[in-house]
Amino acid sequence: MLELRDISIRYKSHKTPILSNINLTLVPGTITSIVGLSGCGKTTLLSSINGVLKYDHKGEVTGSVLLNKRPIESDSVMEISKYIGTVYQDPDSQIVFSSVRAELSFALENYCYPLEEIESIVTGVAKSLDMMHLLDRNPNELSGGEKQLVVLAAIMVLEPDVLLLDEIMSQVDDKGSDLIKKRILSLKEKNKIILMIEHDLDHLDIADRVMVLRNGLLETFDGELL
Ligand SMILES: Nc1ncnc2c1ncn2[C@@H]1O[C@H](COP(=O)(O)OP(=O)(O)OP(=O)(O)O)[C@@H](O)[C@H]1O
Ligand SMILES: [Mg+2]
Repeated sequence: MLELRDISIRYKSHKTPILSNINLTLVPGTITSIVGLSGCGKTTLLSSINGVLKYDHKGEVTGSVLLNKRPIESDSVMEISKYIGTVYQDPDSQIVFSSVRAELSFALENYCYPLEEIESIVTGVAKSLDMMHLLDRNPNELSGGEKQLVVLAAIMVLEPDVLLLDEIMSQVDDKGSDLIKKRILSLKEKNKIILMIEHDLDHLDIADRVMVLRNGLLETFDGELL
């Protein structure tokens, strides 16, 4: 279970907080979606959960994030990445290597997994996401949607309990988004905690619960963004 308790965030460059007293409880095997107008703080909220905001020192974060009742806000970004995987809305910002296989192997190499194990985990994740055909491609030559898939696969190798997905369907057509939705639903079946940021209300059909960020507050979605 992932709990956000009274999270408030102010960027040091701003006088007023971007988000105030956010409370949210996410349980395994569910998909929660957050919608909101551009600039309302959706990505900021994700970065407060995975530790990036604290690491950047650009924002002041108060409140607590608990995973299975344990506060994680003093863990390092690298530690948190083992149990919380994030796919940001711009896949280029997360892709480093010139082969998909290298991209998927990176986190495991960092944790000094033996080579054979890396190979078998990478193949397993690629199979489960139906992307074996991409393994030997250069990510820079892939479409936006395929790049988002590569980033998702690269975080899945560490088997995180929590997935934070930031507008992960923003760069695909309807057929592409149907495929990604299927993959997200299969991750739900695997009992992952899934928090999905969306700007396209048509993609909310797979969500168990939809919340809206509005004026710095998180509320149950009532069908209106404003
Ligand atoms: N590093 C930063 N320093 C200062 N202000 C920032 C920083 N990052 C974001 N902001 C500001 O915080 C607000 C929220 O930004 P954020 O990117 O979280 O919104 P968003 O809801 O994800 O928007 P979008 O739908 O366009 O992705 C915006 O006004 C943005 O300009
Ligand atoms: Mg955003």
